[in-house]
Formats: sequence, structure tokens, C-alpha cells
Amino acid sequence: MDERELKLKGKNEILLLKLGGSLLTDKNKPFYIREDVAKSTIQQIINANEKVILIHGGGSFGHPLAKKYSISKGVNNSIPNQIYGLTETHQAMTKFNSYLVNLFLERNYPSFSIQPSSIFIKDADKIIFKSVDIIETALDLNILPILYGDIIFSKQGSFSIISGDQIIFELCEKLRKYYVSKVIFALETDGIFINNKDSREIKVKLVSEIFVDELDDLDLADLGKKIDVTGGIKGKIDFIKQICKFNVPVQLINGLKENYIYLSLKNKKITCTNINIK
Ligand code: IPE
Repeated sequence: MDERELKLKGKNEILLLKLGGSLLTDKNKPFYIREDVAKSTIQQIINANEKVILIHGGGSFGHPLAKKYSISKGVNNSIPNQIYGLTETHQAMTKFNSYLVNLFLERNYPSFSIQPSSIFIKDADKIIFKSVDIIETALDLNILPILYGDIIFSKQGSFSIISGDQIIFELCEKLRKYYVSKVIFALETDGIFINNKDSREIKVKLVSEIFVDELDDLDLADLGKKIDVTGGIKGKIDFIKQICKFNVPVQLINGLKENYIYLSLKNKKITCTNINIK
């Protein structure tokens, strides 16, 4: 038995699924949920019925408010009503989260919202996460825990944003009874695109299989900008590199393609980006 097998012995497998905010909401319309996408996504998770922790992003609920009040940079007295804006950002995320939790409950599927701003706190640059037992106990009880990008307080008396991706990193590091067999990012694109030097007509191509140590060498294609206070595709790649340090493979999939979330949860072959560990 190698080191990884020894570490995993006796632990249960878990999948982490992150639903990107831009998949579930329309980034051009404040507080606008793409209801068809949300409902189909939730139904696919229910149909798959795997052990999952669900994490969702902020989309047009969290990002515009976080940007308006400059929440990610912490206390700044020159921003009018910033503290009110902090609470408003959190409340917008709570509302979005409730909508998703309700979709599960309406379909009689036990899901449970776990508020990241109540279980994480920052100490300088470090995120402290003490309540892993809550998540593991929910999983033991066959409850689907749902977390989301949120505001995070700091012990120094300030605040910032904790993104869904940061939460995934914390879960990969801190879960004890469970081990993460795969992280899935459901996006509104097929995965990572690079510039295609082989053709004049087709300017970009999808990276379908790649090892984590090859990520830095990619000639990333620019697919246009969006409001994102937590980093875009380059930021995502940095997180992926950190996640892979825990020996967890990562899959980027297109959540708009029919049944792709289900197929990914069931480990079936789909057109996407697979980031493999050696
Ligand atoms: C951001 O979370 C949360 C807030 C802005 C409050 P994410 O960074 O995970 O959200 P998306 O997936 O990019 O929308």
C-alpha cells in the first residue's frame, strides 16, 4: 500500500461540486437567477445521489455589491456606507443560497445550508476553519451540505471575501473522515481554452487532459472579461494548483450542457478539461 492508500484507508469518498456564479446567474442583470439552469442542475445532483458537498459562487448576487463597497480589500473609511454594504453583500448571498436549498427541499432531498461567514475567520492572511465536524456530521446523516462564497471577518477587526474556490481548498485540506476523490467546477464554458496556433480559422482550442505541473505553460485564450472580484480563469488555475497539492484531481465542465453535471458526478466520459495528478 502506498502513502496515499494508507492515508485514505477507512475514509469515505466525497465529491466537491462548485457551481460557478456565472452559470447560475446572469452577470449582466443584478440578482437574476437563471432558473432553468438552477432547476436542471439541482435535479441532476439529486439524480446522481452521490456523497457531495455543494459550493456555489456569488454571480450577480455577490460580485456587484462586493465590488461597489470594495469588500475584498477590507475596512476603508473613505467608502460611504461600507459596513452596511458588507451586511448587504452577505444577505444577498444568503438569499441566493436559500433559493437553491429550497429547490432541493421542494424535491424532498435533504440539504442544509452552512454559512461560511460563521465557520471561517481570517487571522492575517490565514483562514481558520474549526467547524469541520459540522460538515462531516451532516454527511454522516446523508445530508447534502451547501456552502457558498461569502464575506469573511478577520481577527484583526476587518473583513474580506471568501470565494467558493477558497472554501474548496479548505475542505480538501481539513476534512478528516472523508477524502475528496474529485473536485468538479461547473462553469458556463467547456473548460480551459488555449490559443490555437495550428489554425487561422479556429482561434482557440479546449485543453482536455493535462497534468497539474503543465498548467503554467499554457498560452491561455482570452475569452472576455466579467465582473469577478475573486480572480477569473487565472485565479482559478492558481487555486487548482493548490487543490492538486492534496492529490485531488480536478475537472472543469460545462454546466449548461445537457446532463453534464450528472455525468461528471457519475464519472462518465464527457468533453471537458481534466486536470490530473501524477
Ligand atoms: C464570491 O464567490 C462571493 C461574493 C462575491 C460574496 P465566488 O468567487 O466563488 O463566486 P463566482 O463563482 O466567481 O461567481
